[in-house]
Amino acid sequence: MLSGKHILIGVSGGIAAYKCPELVRRLKQQGADVRVIMTDAAKTFITPLSLQAVSGNPVSNSLLDPNAEAAMGHIELAKWADFILLAPATADLIARLAIGMANDLLTAICLATSAPIAIAPAMNQQMYRAQSTQHNLHRLSSYNWLIWGPDYGEQACGDVGPGRMMSPEELSNKLVNYFSYPGDLEGVNLLLTAGPTVEAIDPVRFISNHSSGKMGFAIAQVAASRGASVTLISGPVNLPTPEKVRRINVTTALEMHDTVMQYADKVDIFVACAAVSDYRVANIADEKLKKHDKHMTIELIRNPDIVADVAAMSTYRPFVVGFAAETQNVKEYALEKLNKKNLDMICANDVSQPGRGFNSDMNALNLFWRSGELTLALSDKFSLSQTLLDKIIECYNEKNRR
Ligand code: C5P
Repeated sequence: MLSGKHILIGVSGGIAAYKCPELVRRLKQQGADVRVIMTDAAKTFITPLSLQAVSGNPVSNSLLDPNAEAAMGHIELAKWADFILLAPATADLIARLAIGMANDLLTAICLATSAPIAIAPAMNQQMYRAQSTQHNLHRLSSYNWLIWGPDYGEQACGDVGPGRMMSPEELSNKLVNYFSYPGDLEGVNLLLTAGPTVEAIDPVRFISNHSSGKMGFAIAQVAASRGASVTLISGPVNLPTPEKVRRINVTTALEMHDTVMQYADKVDIFVACAAVSDYRVANIADEKLKKHDKHMTIELIRNPDIVADVAAMSTYRPFVVGFAAETQNVKEYALEKLNKKNLDMICANDVSQPGRGFNSDMNALNLFWRSGELTLALSDKFSLSQTLLDKIIECYNEKNRR
């Protein structure tokens, strides 16, 4: 699956470094050409000789070693890589990368490469939860770096929590998936809504919802890169249109509803990611309202429920996926929505948790469908979209087989 791919593994100084020979072995088994760079700290956990033996290539370490530079300079190595996987990535490595330092070979190569980079964090749970580490991961994720893991569980220090490096098996599966995705959604027509809707009160004021549109745009981008034909109906957001995605901009819930209804009978799957305003203003003022009285009342009218209207289509109905942003009783409310709106799947996120959901580059989801549920752990919205699309397609195919 990875035949001919040049994979550069960056190993930093964490106890999880002992899993690296297994990771390298698995990647080699898939046909990859693997090279390893180690930080100085990594060498205290595992020897370069072990990684040289399993990779079949010399292990690089020093930025200033004339012999190594003569054999394969750091810029050459940065260009050689089709993909860089940092595993384990310690809090220190992540911090240095987040501010663009290049004070050793590994960080210099990460700056000098145009290859995609994935980070597999591995550290003590408290270090992982630390605000600065979270901030650094979000920053790297906003540069489109992939964040794989960490896993939750018992740690080398005896603590229990998030911070275990993803297993070599999971990491090599992620790499295989990364390279094998393009094309697998060819022939699938996907319609998405994303972002907020905006309902005018007067020419300068409006009612809206928090929503950056990042989750919907990430799903659209990933689906299009895998070959799906994607139509994205977006409320006002500040995001570029992903490549190969047809984007239609709308402002109000009524506009979004009308546009969705024009396309819904021509698609296989509808994913409603938008944060639609539940109400609109009954009488939008033509002129800016003046503040005379201490209290004012605005009459609101219920907007149509777009996702429920698509799910209620009678002659033809696509596979319908909704989202539920909740602050409490996530499962209970999500299941209630799944049933009430007659959806095929609902993706619930707990927006009361810091560092996920609204405006964030990271998210975690709890998926519920008629016969099952699945938790997708906190990760960047692109990696999350890959796994989410896998599950949507699986349930869609299963439903069509019935
Ligand atoms: O009921 P609630 O707004 O929490 O439901 C969220 C789900 O319903 C999301 O998928 C959202 O896009 C969709 N929705 C909609 N039209 C509305 C309200 C919500 O499509 N008017």
